[in-house]
Amino acid sequence: MGQKISPVKGTRDVLPGDTYLKKDDPWIRTGHLHLIEQAARELFPLYGYREARTPVLERTALFARGIGDATDIVAKEMYTFEDRDGTQVSMRPEGTASLVRAYVEHAVQQQEPDTKWWYAGPMFRHERQQRGRYRQFTQIGVEALGSPGPRIDAEQIEMLDRWLRALGIPFEMHVNTLGDAQCRPAYRTALQEYLRARSADLCEECRKRTETNPIRVLDCKNPRCQEVAAGAPKMEQFLCAPCREHFDGLRAALDRLGVAHVVDPKLVRGLDYYTRTTYEAIATAGLGSQSTVAGGGRYDGLIRELGGGDVPGIGFAAGVERLALLVAQAGRELAVRPLVFFAPLGPEEEARADALALELRKAGIPAEVSFRRSSPGNQMKRADALGARFALVLGDAELKSGRGKLKELKTGAEHEVDLTDLAGALRRLAP
Ligand code: HAM
Repeated sequence: MGQKISPVKGTRDVLPGDTYLKKDDPWIRTGHLHLIEQAARELFPLYGYREARTPVLERTALFARGIGDATDIVAKEMYTFEDRDGTQVSMRPEGTASLVRAYVEHAVQQQEPDTKWWYAGPMFRHERQQRGRYRQFTQIGVEALGSPGPRIDAEQIEMLDRWLRALGIPFEMHVNTLGDAQCRPAYRTALQEYLRARSADLCEECRKRTETNPIRVLDCKNPRCQEVAAGAPKMEQFLCAPCREHFDGLRAALDRLGVAHVVDPKLVRGLDYYTRTTYEAIATAGLGSQSTVAGGGRYDGLIRELGGGDVPGIGFAAGVERLALLVAQAGRELAVRPLVFFAPLGPEEEARADALALELRKAGIPAEVSFRRSSPGNQMKRADALGARFALVLGDAELKSGRGKLKELKTGAEHEVDLTDLAGALRRLAP
């Protein structure tokens, strides 16, 4: 016998049933993923977003330039290798850089003034493993390119808010502004000076970040770093007039659309491309430390950085597995259960059961047949395990009379029915 081969760390299988459901860590099921994706598929087009798909493999330079060399994602977490022809390639750690590359590549800017795309797919980051954090995970995201003003920011945040509400997820919407190329450098310098003076109180990582990416110190989870961060100068004090106007405009638009939100100066995000608006939906229960279910923001310089025109953009991405954990905890019933389970007793009855099941399925009624010869008692057990509502034993008598008994598994009640109109009988019994 061959040796069992275990999955790569940080990846997980998504199975259809409850087999792996643990009480404290609900296993994600295909049904959860469908529910989440289906809700997005229905909602996003109402706001004008159309689906785009980009490759999982990209040139490493795309992410190095797009996300930033100094970010954890690029410096530590990408799956990068040399392709057989010598090209440096990476498995995408996120979708924004790829979508912007596609936008530039296909000269979309020349064809339409405003572009709204959504996407779904696997992303890869070699992160430390913990609950809600995987090395292969799925994002559903959107990008809106072309509009500079705060109304599109608010429209997009409202859409995210609506989607998460539809899924029944408890969360809070956090918003912040990071300023732009005009005002952020002065803030960065002031922050850096402040952090250098307190470097003794920072964790080792944040001492490094003080020099490479000081804004990231603000969202370090270390309690001592948080204390230092609490006293740090705030971006708000440094905003230039246009950035201030944008942020005020965003907040006013969110209020008009009825989106409850909190201003969170610590919300700096882990990617370098952000300008002005940043936002995150943070779960208020059920996820522990990995509680950010979706994050995004404005990236007005990214399109130019990747060889395109002066086009502004804003987007978000949500972690589908994190959403699924929350949906699973809410205990939503997802599986499609057979309405009827057929238990045929011999070869002729099996053929009849197959034909009856096909008839029901054509009528849109989920049905299952037994493929095993076993006692009626065992057949009932199997029907029960499948979650069927009714079982129908088919023997010689049923074949001859053309009538059968639908047995309700929960109550044991039996309903005699005409086998030539089983669909009709079921509609009457289970409307
Ligand atoms: P991000 O914050 O890196 O942003 O990721 C967005 C979401 O993906 C997170 O809030 C989280 O739910 C999920 N996520 C990230 N890493 C993992 C992981 N290792 N395991 C499970 N879930 C994870 C972006 O990726 C940006 N591209 C978002 C964006 C779009 N900004 C503008 N447009």
